[in-house]
Amino acid sequence: MSKKLLYTLSAVLMLAIALTACGAPAENTTSEQASCAPNCTYKDLTICYPQLGAESDWRTANTASIKETAEQLGVEQLIFSDAQQKQENQISAIRACIAQGVDVIALPPVVEDGWDAVLTEAQNAGIPVIIVDRSVSADASLYATHIGSNMVLEGERAAAEFNKLLPDGGVILELSGTTGSGAAVGRAEGLRNKLNANITILDSQTGNFTRAEALPVMQAFLQKYKPGVDFQGIFIHNDDMGIGAIEALKAAGVNPGDLVIVSVDGTRGGFQAMVDGWFQADVECNPLLGPQVFELALKLMNGETVEREILTNETVYYPENAAELLPERKY
Ligand code: AHR
Repeated sequence: MSKKLLYTLSAVLMLAIALTACGAPAENTTSEQASCAPNCTYKDLTICYPQLGAESDWRTANTASIKETAEQLGVEQLIFSDAQQKQENQISAIRACIAQGVDVIALPPVVEDGWDAVLTEAQNAGIPVIIVDRSVSADASLYATHIGSNMVLEGERAAAEFNKLLPDGGVILELSGTTGSGAAVGRAEGLRNKLNANITILDSQTGNFTRAEALPVMQAFLQKYKPGVDFQGIFIHNDDMGIGAIEALKAAGVNPGDLVIVSVDGTRGGFQAMVDGWFQADVECNPLLGPQVFELALKLMNGETVEREILTNETVYYPENAAELLPERKY
């Protein structure tokens, strides 16, 4: 066989291997097997959760879900930290977990970019990584799986609400989440994908997913644009920012109920805003991911195969039954 033919055959074989791996369920091939595998239990698991922060009620509920699930399942080694919305803090926490030799890292990434180096370090150490909640732009071969919401779909659902509520068209503002985060990028993209052509986005500014930061952003919008004249609606990337924006509107003597406000999350605060007549729809984003995260972690520790992408099943909530549903809301 000629050298050239041999090279061509090996290139074809490599391509076939790469294509087979692509889109297939993730097999825990790169991770070092725990000595208890394949019979490890939750008691054996040491898991690292470098939480991105405590910026919203959604995040508080996500933290509670992780901690409560660990307790219920008898996980004794949950290494939890709060990065205060700073990627460098998350990276330091991950490095500390790698040095400690944890079994699994579950990472809710504050932003999409900039994870390649630390994910490679985890992979080289044989520690599988579960990306939780927001997505990362790193190559999928660097982590075992992603579990969370379809943020683009959430933005598309918000667009559908504006299309219904502004049937003759109009102008909206956007109060966006943390710049560069999978949640903000996806929701902005989804909104633009599905918004009717007769609805335009006048301005978009970030409120970093917090009440405190959304308030001055809304105030600045009100300095520039006249509600009801220059804009009729606001798309707000989470309920906490929505509550901050409502405060700013009320303080300026504007009735938030005169505008079309669509928010995301479905927290108790968001439900209350619907009951009060301030939000016209709230697109669900479910933070209660603890049970699925731990199930995936144990599977990975035991060397089992897991799906590469697990999307949360979500809906849209409306003012019509908000009062009835509010007492049952868990977050
Ligand atoms: O990534 C999920 C988003 O992050 C939630 O919508 C928001 O409330 C949180 O801060």
